[in-house]
Amino acid sequence: MSSPRRNIELKATDPDPERSLRIALDLGASDEGTLVQRDTYFRVPEGRLKLREETPGGAVLIQYFRADRPEARESRYRVVPVDEAEATRHALADALGTLAVVDKERRLLLWEGVRIHLDTVRGLGSFLELEGVAHEDSDLSGEHDRVAELSEALGIDGTRILSDSYSDLVAGNPSEQLIAAARDVFERAYAPYSNYRVGVALRAPDGSIHVGANVENAAYPLGNCAEASAIGAMVAAGRTQIVEAAVIGDGEEPCVPCGGCRQRLREFMPLDATVHLLAEKGARASMTLEELLPRSFGPEYLP
Ligand code: THU
Repeated sequence: MSSPRRNIELKATDPDPERSLRIALDLGASDEGTLVQRDTYFRVPEGRLKLREETPGGAVLIQYFRADRPEARESRYRVVPVDEAEATRHALADALGTLAVVDKERRLLLWEGVRIHLDTVRGLGSFLELEGVAHEDSDLSGEHDRVAELSEALGIDGTRILSDSYSDLVAGNPSEQLIAAARDVFERAYAPYSNYRVGVALRAPDGSIHVGANVENAAYPLGNCAEASAIGAMVAAGRTQIVEAAVIGDGEEPCVPCGGCRQRLREFMPLDATVHLLAEKGARASMTLEELLPRSFGPEYLP
């Protein structure tokens, strides 16, 4: 089917997800369990386009139009199953650019054709979403009514209702912007020998972001770490201070800067500044430079 499907959506912050769960179950909603979802949003000229990778489940491409208004609103969407999630993600990231990556855990409940999402979104907190899925020939009034009824039962007041998508909230968060920049340059790493790509983004005090990736060489010892590349780009742009850093590498475990690169960062970064460590597959940790490099030597030791 190629024409878009429609639903009525409402999104709100949720200060008490356990209470929401209880109310939904008391209303007779069926509990469909918890899904772990990663949505990669791409830069597109119209509406939104995201690749959703879901466990359990698989991957789908979701294209949709929805007005950015703080009320229950219509969304027109298409959901296309994707067999090769990783290749699709890389193809779209290279062609369009990545806008934001949103990681969340979703408790899914169903009530009278309305999907209830109790979402915990990484870096953002807890949210509640209601989606009244429409039949093909519906005039949407029934969907509006059921979403309004549920919204009232769940005690969602107007001040909690959001107009933005999670991608806008993530993209508006400066740390997430830095991480997105690291993820972007990571895709361009030159690492044919180790197959371990690393991307680094550094924020200077004026807010500017400087990026670099690892660059390997057939004469192995000549390879450059991503931190060195990013620091080179930063200095070339006339900045010599780092207020926040993000490092992302291939694999399951968050990438940690090598010993030499901790010292490279130490040259330009205060010890209490934050370094975000990420794995391409999603794991992450944040710590101070001092935690990465305790009792360190720095420029202030020199006469
Ligand atoms: N690598 C970095 O770019 N930064 C680090 O801090 C750790 C290691 C790169 C260097 C090499 O291209 C690959 O990872 C495998 O060591």
